[in-house]
Amino acid sequence: MTTNVHGTHLVNRELKGNERQKALEEAKSLKTLSISAWTISDLELIGIGGFSPLEGFMTQQDYENVVHNMRLENGEIWSIPITLPVSEAHAEKYQVGDEIALVGEDHVIYGTMIIKDKYTYDQELEALNVYGTTDKEHAGVQKVYEKGNVYFGGPITLLNRPNHGEFQDFYLDPAETRQLFADLGWETVVGFQTRNPVHRAHEYIQKTALESVDGLLLNPLVGETKSGDIPADVRMESYQTILKLYYPEDRTRLVIYPAAMRYAGPREAILHAIVRKNYGCTHFIVGRDHAGVGDYYGTYDAQKLISQYEEELGITIFKFEHAFYCETCENMATSKTCPHDKEHHVHLSGTKVRELLKNGERPPKEFSRPEVADVLIKGMQED
Ligand code: ADX
Repeated sequence: MTTNVHGTHLVNRELKGNERQKALEEAKSLKTLSISAWTISDLELIGIGGFSPLEGFMTQQDYENVVHNMRLENGEIWSIPITLPVSEAHAEKYQVGDEIALVGEDHVIYGTMIIKDKYTYDQELEALNVYGTTDKEHAGVQKVYEKGNVYFGGPITLLNRPNHGEFQDFYLDPAETRQLFADLGWETVVGFQTRNPVHRAHEYIQKTALESVDGLLLNPLVGETKSGDIPADVRMESYQTILKLYYPEDRTRLVIYPAAMRYAGPREAILHAIVRKNYGCTHFIVGRDHAGVGDYYGTYDAQKLISQYEEELGITIFKFEHAFYCETCENMATSKTCPHDKEHHVHLSGTKVRELLKNGERPPKEFSRPEVADVLIKGMQED
């Protein structure tokens, strides 16, 4: 039995070898349901145990408990619904009890599922409770409103993992990262979630955290993100560049997190921590406005929420204040460590940074490593 997992054990809903061949053959005669790239990423994360203790898409009882109480029906903490949405018209073709094949747009059978539950839900309530707003301008809420209004719940079997293409070399499942940490002799590992290129503030909080643990898992999310975010391939190149030049090879690993971004701020910070625990991390970083978008969340709302559950989650949260470069300290710092006021600090808005990069200009080196800036400039020009 694997220890230090969310729930009792690392879930494995994947078939391999002959069993898989047989199941794939049988799946060809099942009713099919076409699933999106987002659903495929959820299916994969359930199958490989990243979403342990989930064994399938949420049934109504789990879903409603999560939306209202941030817990699964069995009492475990869970913050974000993991659901399989289907349009009402389409849902009529399927009955509770059906075993179905889950098929991507590329006609690959990614898995099968037994429909245990079929239910409608209140999109506004989901938006309000999970995202804290019903505003459809919010990138995550927009996705909720676009989804089908029926959810299918039930256990899944993973038959094909999606191909992660150019990121495949950086793909490990939770059992593999656990093995990797053991092989490296890392007893304590801090996980870092990101959907952005690594800038100096990221580097500062990662390295500050690394001072207290054996290893750093840089675990960028490479699933669906909103338009306007830097594409995953450009980000991956920037991570590789900075790791090679400025990070200790024996204490850092880059592994992709193949999930979709929800932008749910505080609640998503909890999901992110749970998943990293399942990947074998003992610590997790939550900095300023974690998983936030626009002005929907207070700078430290995610830290406040996760602090309430930290002990029960069983993963230590490293919380960091907003970090910046101070020209007078000549250091990266936060308000906890720097006595100077704002005029001394290098601050650039995301919009300003994008504008500079688009014009082929590097942001100040106190904000972004020049080598990273060059990768981003190239990425922007190819865009
Ligand atoms: S996120 O949506 O994945 O959270 P991002 O990649 O920007 O976005 O952030 C990754 C992590 O770094 C999060 O924990 C976030 O809170 C933290 N972070 C980002 N910028 C700063 C900063 N300037 N100071 C402190 N923490 C930060």
